[in-house]
Amino acid sequence: MNVVVMAAGMGKRMKSALPKVLHPLAGKPLLAHVLARSRELAPGKLVVIHGHGGESVQRALGAPDLLWALQSPQLGTGHAVAQALPLLDDDAPTLILSGDVPLIQLATLQRLLAAAGTDKLGILTVDMPDPTGYGRIVRRDGRITAIVEHKDADEATRRIREINTGILVVPTVPLKRWLAALKNDNVQGEYYLTDIVAMAVADGVPVVSAQPDAIWETQGINSKQQLAELERLWQRELAERLMTDGVMLADPARIDIRGPLTCGTDVSIDVNCVFEGTVVLGNDVKIGANCVLIDTELGNGTVLQPFTHLQGTKVGEMGTLGPFSRLRPGTVLGNDVHVGNFVEMKAAQVGDGSKAGHLSYVGDATVGRNVNIGAGTITCNYDGANKHHTTIGDDVFVGSDTQFVAPVTVGSGVSIAAGTTVWKDVAPGVLVLNPRQQAERSDYQRPVKKKKT
Ligand code: UD1
Ligand code: CA
Repeated sequence: MNVVVMAAGMGKRMKSALPKVLHPLAGKPLLAHVLARSRELAPGKLVVIHGHGGESVQRALGAPDLLWALQSPQLGTGHAVAQALPLLDDDAPTLILSGDVPLIQLATLQRLLAAAGTDKLGILTVDMPDPTGYGRIVRRDGRITAIVEHKDADEATRRIREINTGILVVPTVPLKRWLAALKNDNVQGEYYLTDIVAMAVADGVPVVSAQPDAIWETQGINSKQQLAELERLWQRELAERLMTDGVMLADPARIDIRGPLTCGTDVSIDVNCVFEGTVVLGNDVKIGANCVLIDTELGNGTVLQPFTHLQGTKVGEMGTLGPFSRLRPGTVLGNDVHVGNFVEMKAAQVGDGSKAGHLSYVGDATVGRNVNIGAGTITCNYDGANKHHTTIGDDVFVGSDTQFVAPVTVGSGVSIAAGTTVWKDVAPGVLVLNPRQQAERSDYQRPVKKKKT
């Protein structure tokens, strides 16, 4: 089959420099949703009609399997599809989708394609409580005879509640003939794709319809309000799917999923969490309120306290993180690792059973097993020009307020006194400290605040 995605409209009502089809829904451009869905149908030809902001659309979503057809100026949906005709295979039907109708589901498209076969014109229609603005499906004795656009419709036609979703499948050879015969003698002065329906009826080509499983599948985006509304509808749908799979959500209205999220059994998620990119949660994972997880994997039994921010990280089993922990890309934690309040890690590999409970920065570091990192510990990984690595062996005790001046290596079993600056490698098993003396002065006068005059 051929798939043609109409995406040339300018989206004036979005009031944005960003082309409408590049606006994100669930973290992904509208058009990317439609292209992903199209690819599931394995079309022989996949054509995007671009126009407004076309170059940025191509730059954002260009891929080797995509064909692009420029429509400039934009003279209507019929004119749009006509731009794709030279690229289409004649011996397969053409499915027409809209770049601004992002949530059309596979089962619905398959039902439409099955209804149309290779020789019928198929229209995806829905009954709308308020059909204002849409093209109306006109039927005689139950058979579709035409689509009439809202602006061209008379009073009686406007009372029809069955509308054209804009998704159609058409046999390609007659499609070419019909598009060539389109006229723009209508209220909007446009070449309407929808006029091919009456032409099909006149040519004796059967016209059939199919309906989506849910109305939101066919909801289009013309404004920021509609974008936000569809985002919430879709998030609710994703939340329902998670709960159906056994995930416990504190509130299905307060979760945002912006990429593939895989959950084991008995996962629970508190309110206001955001999941971006690919996130994998093991069994019995508990996520506290207000956590952000981006491209992250958590092992079985790991618990996140509120306000934990994880990006590009992998956490082993039974980890305890947060509140207010931040793990940045390249961080890999073993099993039973604890990362506490205001601890930041970047590109750190941390062994089983190690802990960093408070106020530390561990970056570009390899930390062994059962290491205790005291409060205020910092790996000084940057010398102003380059990054350097810190290596800490197993069973090291790092006293509070320690600085590791990288590159530096500390052997296993080392104890580091509080307030030590470690700038040379340390042999295993020793106590390391910076000799200092504590002094007392009795002649010190604490300053006294001046009285206001
Ligand atoms: C269209 C349908 C209408 C249907 C509605 C569903 C026509 C004439 N009307 O109306 O029956 O109920 O969609 O939402 O087809 N586009 C181009 N080039 C153009 C014009 C539009 O690429 O010259 C693209 C737009 O970017 C959009 C799609 O086609 O993705 C639909 O265009 P839009 O202007 O929204 O059509 P409607 O008037 O809403
Ligand atoms: Ca529209």
